[in-house]
Amino acid sequence: MLVKKVEDLLNRQVEREGYSSNLYLSMASWAEINGLPGIAQWLYAQAEEERIHFLKFIKYINERGGSALIPEFKKPPSDFPGVEVLFSEVLKHEEFITSSINEIAFVTLQEKDFNTNNFLQWFLTEQVEEEASVRTIIDKLKLTGPANMYVFDRDILSLRTTSAETGTA
Ligand SMILES: [Fe+2]
Ligand SMILES: [Fe+2]
Repeated sequence: MLVKKVEDLLNRQVEREGYSSNLYLSMASWAEINGLPGIAQWLYAQAEEERIHFLKFIKYINERGGSALIPEFKKPPSDFPGVEVLFSEVLKHEEFITSSINEIAFVTLQEKDFNTNNFLQWFLTEQVEEEASVRTIIDKLKLTGPANMYVFDRDILSLRTTSAETGTA
């Protein structure tokens, strides 16, 4: 059984992963409208991954005798001043998610809930990868510059190793 404190934090994470998915969907839609199909495809694939994270938390809570609650989501931003700002917002959001999962992992140790701690380890590894991949994108953006967005948009999918392996991008 999950202790209430851990269950509540896991439900908070359900909301955060679901919101992440919606945020990246909104960004993908913005990129698609603005003639950036590569960036859009990267973000749509990212949104799919976040939906998988969302489902993993739901199923874990229920599997451990808790009750996963499907929350209401706040509306993600729908307009972005440019690609650089968009990716710096992706990075900021991923850093927020990392700290959120770290916080739950800390509480699982306090509560001696080693099963949930073990469940969270996969996410902690995933966050390291996600942050690194977004930092790589931001570095490439600085190299190509706004004048070469066509080239960047064409190349971004080659930076997405995981989706290339799973064939989702
Ligand atoms: Fe996630
Ligand atoms: Fe993420």
